[in-house]
Amino acid sequence: MKMQRNKLFNPKGDSAFEKRRLIDGNSTNLFELNNIKYDWAMKLYRAMMNNFWIPEEIPLGNDAKDYKVLSDAEQKGFDRVISFLVFLDSLQTANLPNFSHFVTAPEVNLCLTLQTFQEAVHSQSYGYILDTVVSASKREQIYNYWREDKFLLERNLVITSIYEQFEQDPTRENFVLALMANYILEGLYFYSGFSFFYVLARQGKMCGVAQEIRYIQRDELTHLVLFQNIITTLRKENPELFLNSTMEKLSSLMDSAVQGEINWGKYIIKDGILGLTDTIIERYIRYLSNKRMDAIGFARLYPEETEHPMKWVDSFSSVNQIKTDFFEAKPTAYSKSSGVDWDELG
Ligand SMILES: [Fe+2]
Ligand SMILES: [Fe+2]
Repeated sequence: MKMQRNKLFNPKGDSAFEKRRLIDGNSTNLFELNNIKYDWAMKLYRAMMNNFWIPEEIPLGNDAKDYKVLSDAEQKGFDRVISFLVFLDSLQTANLPNFSHFVTAPEVNLCLTLQTFQEAVHSQSYGYILDTVVSASKREQIYNYWREDKFLLERNLVITSIYEQFEQDPTRENFVLALMANYILEGLYFYSGFSFFYVLARQGKMCGVAQEIRYIQRDELTHLVLFQNIITTLRKENPELFLNSTMEKLSSLMDSAVQGEINWGKYIIKDGILGLTDTIIERYIRYLSNKRMDAIGFARLYPEETEHPMKWVDSFSSVNQIKTDFFEAKPTAYSKSSGVDWDELG
């Protein structure tokens, strides 16, 4: 059965928050933010607002020099990772409203709107990186990889097909699948790419780009927590959408995503990147998958993977723990503590 799309104008909607539901509610669509049901959404909204940043405030002059002296393998890896990130953030910006159309809690839609905005800022940062660090012809090449690089094209198709399935056939089952796909994208797909940049920066290369990535990752953590809350709330309100057969589908989606991410990570480093090996990537992605499954109360798929194989990444990826003189980035004036230990979640 198809889901009911939110009415744009609904004077007969319920404003009483106790009647509010994540989906299938009768929402007025109005933001009455003194009258909310889902506290977690307002906390997240504030954390996301506090994370506001501007990509161009991070200088990339040294990165342009660094790029020229990267090894061939490092350049190739850099180009492919950026190309994939361009795709992911563009897709997110375009697809998130497809969720909002069916979410009947205005405070949750507020977070989805802010997330959409942040994904757009991430695209802005890639534009800035490509403008500053590589030549104009290289930039065009990188923007076109998604059409030309078979591996990348195939990968992108897998992700998009689940979103499209929901867009074209908005059933509850497809909604749950798309939620899980989004959760996986936020919590897994970005991570081989992120760690690639941290590995370079740890060797003193492309440190400005790594700083951009840190800010992006800080945003992605809030997106991850948003979808974690959406999934667990939906499961409480609509347990019939999470029967065994669906749980199996969701777990197998995670399993194939893990395989896809591992293959992608290996592809990025196939020409040799100091500090990254196939085994480290495999272990890292499986370890992350376990964390993501724990967070939504699902069974782990790789119980043997209990140790983070690159522990340094967690502290290295934190915006607040990095000395700004090393990275030459201005400390952001907008960031205030949200009271949540986001670093723990990475
Ligand atoms: Fe993003
Ligand atoms: Fe995101």
